[in-house]
Amino acid sequence: MKRFNYGFFHLVFFLISLLLLGSGLSMDPFSYEQSLKSECVMEPPQTTSNTEGEGFEELKINEKRGNIKVVERVDLQKGNTYSISASVKLRNDTQRKVGMTLRWKNGKNVFGGEVMAKKACWSLLKGGITADFSGPIHIFFESNDLAAAEIHVQNVRMQRFNKTQWRLQQDQLIEKIRKNKVRFQLSFHNKSTVKGSVIYIEQIKPSFLLGCAMNYRILESQTYKEWFVSRFRLTSFTNEMKWYTTEVVRGQENYTLADSMMNLAEENNVMVKGHTVLWDDQRWQPSWVKRIRNPEDLKNVTLNRINSVMKRYKGRLIAWDVMNENVHFSYFEYMLGGNASAIVYSMASKLEPDIPLFLNEFNTVEYDNERVGSPVNVKKRMEEIVSYPGNKNIKGGIGAQAHFAPKQPNLAYMRSALDTLGSLGFPVWLTEVDMAKCPNQVKYMEEILREAYSHPAVKGIIIYAGPEVSGFNKLTLADKDFNNTEAGDLIDKLLQEWQQEPVEISIQNHEHNDEEGRIVGFSPEISLSHGHYKVTVTNPSMKNLSTSFNLEITKEMGHLQEVQLVIDA
Ligand SMILES: *[C@@H]1O[C@H](CO)[C@@H](O)[C@H](O)[C@H]1NC(C)=O
Ligand SMILES: *[C@@H]1O[C@H](CO)[C@@H](O)[C@H](O)[C@H]1NC(C)=O
Ligand SMILES: *[C@@H]1O[C@H](CO)[C@@H](O)[C@H](O)[C@H]1NC(C)=O
Ligand SMILES: *[C@@H]1O[C@H](CO)[C@@H](O)[C@H](O)[C@H]1NC(C)=O
Ligand SMILES: *[C@@H]1O[C@H](CO)[C@@H](O)[C@H](O)[C@H]1NC(C)=O
Ligand SMILES: *[C@@H]1O[C@H](CO)[C@@H](O)[C@H](O)[C@H]1NC(C)=O
Ligand SMILES: *[C@@H]1O[C@H](CO)[C@@H](O)[C@H](O)[C@H]1NC(C)=O
Ligand SMILES: *[C@@H]1O[C@H](CO)[C@@H](O)[C@H](O)[C@H]1NC(C)=O
Repeated sequence: MKRFNYGFFHLVFFLISLLLLGSGLSMDPFSYEQSLKSECVMEPPQTTSNTEGEGFEELKINEKRGNIKVVERVDLQKGNTYSISASVKLRNDTQRKVGMTLRWKNGKNVFGGEVMAKKACWSLLKGGITADFSGPIHIFFESNDLAAAEIHVQNVRMQRFNKTQWRLQQDQLIEKIRKNKVRFQLSFHNKSTVKGSVIYIEQIKPSFLLGCAMNYRILESQTYKEWFVSRFRLTSFTNEMKWYTTEVVRGQENYTLADSMMNLAEENNVMVKGHTVLWDDQRWQPSWVKRIRNPEDLKNVTLNRINSVMKRYKGRLIAWDVMNENVHFSYFEYMLGGNASAIVYSMASKLEPDIPLFLNEFNTVEYDNERVGSPVNVKKRMEEIVSYPGNKNIKGGIGAQAHFAPKQPNLAYMRSALDTLGSLGFPVWLTEVDMAKCPNQVKYMEEILREAYSHPAVKGIIIYAGPEVSGFNKLTLADKDFNNTEAGDLIDKLLQEWQQEPVEISIQNHEHNDEEGRIVGFSPEISLSHGHYKVTVTNPSMKNLSTSFNLEITKEMGHLQEVQLVIDA
């Protein structure tokens, strides 16, 4: 029943956005609303917590021991998440990482988070722990080789959340960052028409996409293909675009697999993130590349690779991983010089200036004890690339691979890691999310995916998964008959939940005239997730009134969006 009838009805619509201003006076250290602006302030931030009271503790620094500052003992209860924040400043070093370690009595250490602290100003260190044990811990603040006396730590705060409270907080954030409140106002000459009018809202395309990796097996199985395209609108290929696949023999490029998968994706309206132009790990070069000793020769073949793959798919991808894992590895830097990655990004941005160019790393959000690929280091690496001459305006992106270990994820750490990665202002994606099978695999995956979806810096998620036939054997979503596994049920549930269901709302006549004597009616306020919509206005008593228009609901429009429709018969 989607009839357009512009012949008799003239419809005008306006969007009015009403920004609801937040208080902006104090900040909540445990939510990320303010967290992206948390660095380097002259006064330690006066933090408040919206859940202050139950579960909130202000912790005292009570001991300095060599290199570490110790905070009083706190008792953890298994299953709870503890968000911890502190203001830190250095006495005389200009810039240095300061970390927070939680030590349990059996000597077990959990790294809770870190920040790049500075001399002249206070930085907010955030993080914490999702406790998989009960008992007392000590909290330490430390920086490599720096005496405790060199670090100022102030305002150490901890907030306890049980599972229900954490989930509630995520849901509140999702409501705030992924949705807008919308109200329709309908004006019409004929009062009775306003009265019976109904607005039908259908989402054509959601803004946020939960995607899924795919591999060449999709070309061999019609059922895998159908399974995939009926669910996902976003993908990345596992190995098929990699150099070791496209140029097995020097000088003999073969893009058969990548081309076929690209075509399959395009035919089915699935967007593709390219993976990967280069990979900084020596082990994953084509075997003939590994044998090259002459830097000039390597430079020549590398330039050819960049041009070949990026020109081939130019204009067809929504993002590129450019130099995969260049925080953990430095093959090209070792062979071609310290600025190799920066130069590759510079070239890439000339070939594809309009899509985000990602730095894609592992262990950035998923592993709290990581010291190499930590969020602070990933951020620093991206800053180095952008500060290279000519790179100032490149569109960057941060990909956190998110291969989680099969155990309780540390959600407080993950949140603080996303804060740090997001503080660059580039889009952050989870690019290869999975977890090996374990008794709570599905529960943990749900916690991880919800944590990402409720973080404002996260603009996309790609899971590393598939049906059994695809060979993704960690996160298997369907069995050999394509019946959902429990993990498959979870993904289908989230896909559905993160799209907007169609809604029908009626206009209520408020008997109110506008300046031109029209009758004005309003719909109730509804919450709609960001995306593109088709809106249809009908009235059962006037069969001829059926008119549609497109509407985009975006974050930029503010929390309350009013859509004014004027209908002149
Ligand atoms: C900072 O100052 C102390 C003395 O106050 C000195 O011992 C220390 O070496 C200084 N550290 C740095 C990194 O300059
Ligand atoms: C979590 O805490 C809230 C608030 O104290 C409480 O009402 C609720 O029962 C708790 N839920 C669980 C699962 O412990
Ligand atoms: C108003 O609408 C009603 C119901 O469709 C119709 O019967 C009536 O003639 C209309 N009046 C005017 C003034 O258009
Ligand atoms: C290119 O790759 C495809 C798929 O792997 C393979 O079937 C084909 O034989 C290759 N072509 C050449 C010339 O090697
Ligand atoms: C690299 O390419 C340049 C320009 O094409 C060429 O002159 C040079 O000989 C090549 N170097 C090697 C080692 O192949
Ligand atoms: C990297 O580039 C910067 C800026 O051009 C330059 O100062 C530096 O010497 C280069 N480093 C190396 C190792 O080439
Ligand atoms: C799996 O799917 C097949 C075919 O769709 C169906 O016949 C079968 O009953 C399903 N098995 C289970 C355990 O659901
Ligand atoms: C409404 O539609 C009917 C046919 O469905 C047509 O006969 C009639 O003229 C239309 N009236 C108006 C006011 O458009």
